Amino acid sequence: MSPQSRTETKTKVEQATESVGRLDLRGGDEGPRYPQYLPSVEHATFPDWEEVNYVDPGTRGTADKRHLFLPGSKHKNITPRIGEEIRGVQLSQLTKEGLDDLALLAAERGVVIFRDQDFKDIGVKRQLETARHFGRLHIHPPYPKGIPEMHVVYKDPAAAGRFSAIKPSDLQSVSSVVWHSDHTAEQQPPGYTFFVALEVPETGGDTLFVSATEAYKQLSDNYKKSLEGLKIVHDNTGMIEYAKSKGLPARFNPQKRSHPLIRTHPATGEKILWAIGAGEGNGMPRYIEGFKREESDATLRLLNDVLQRSGDIQMRASYEPGTVVVWDNRAVGHTPVHDHKGERRHFVRISAMAETPF
Ligand SMILES: [Fe+2]
Repeated sequence: MSPQSRTETKTKVEQATESVGRLDLRGGDEGPRYPQYLPSVEHATFPDWEEVNYVDPGTRGTADKRHLFLPGSKHKNITPRIGEEIRGVQLSQLTKEGLDDLALLAAERGVVIFRDQDFKDIGVKRQLETARHFGRLHIHPPYPKGIPEMHVVYKDPAAAGRFSAIKPSDLQSVSSVVWHSDHTAEQQPPGYTFFVALEVPETGGDTLFVSATEAYKQLSDNYKKSLEGLKIVHDNTGMIEYAKSKGLPARFNPQKRSHPLIRTHPATGEKILWAIGAGEGNGMPRYIEGFKREESDATLRLLNDVLQRSGDIQMRASYEPGTVVVWDNRAVGHTPVHDHKGERRHFVRISAMAETPF
């Protein structure tokens, strides 16, 4: 067989597996269970998005979530102020009205955890179709080969180089916790976000979430007034540099954009303290427009103290096989926790872009 025809007959799975790099599989490990979702390292670039009108599907949701909380299902608050867990409903079976109810629930509760889902096995086409109900899909490498609208989160102790598991000694900080919301420098940053567990450690590798809606409510009326009208300049150059340093492609052109520090959710009408992870010393070069450097640093440090130290508005999402977490990237901040030992951790994230923040 000529090298040319051999290349042509490669399966997508083989191509994707190759692009992860060398996988020295350990004894007893049969390799990734979802090889078709392994990260590729295509160095494709994509044009910047044009601004479009966004209608939040949550505005069509019902107050009692009757199309989501179906007969026989169970749901409960994870904590009083953030998070909802649902069992007995398949995300893959929801009607359009059910997806609208899910949007409103995610907007209200910040995070919705679905357990025992078949979603990971319904195929790329249906997975993307479901997420498209919530908006245009964001692109952020690495993604599975040929599927740019799916971001892959992959750590494997058997992988060489860029996808190998993170050890505490690899960290530049004392902890792996880095609070943020995703892609805030976009004109229309992601809102509803699907995080689909493909392969999970037995314990660990959780995600922490904080409610930015509840954080706003914690502030005094006088302090809230002092924040009105302020804008934060968001900048993605740090992310581009990080991708380059890891040999990963970056879709982005450098972007620098100011968005309101206090934004309003179009589905709930709630105000949101949208300063998650912003500020000096956390690798996110952001500042408050029109403030002097010390003023901006001090304000953002204080606001991030509110977000990061308020255990009463935070939750922890742990993963089981079949878990899908849907969060509203506008209403919550999040951070991964790299504490798991030696097991593969494989997720895909599908993020729907929302409105231009107002
Ligand atoms: Fe993130």
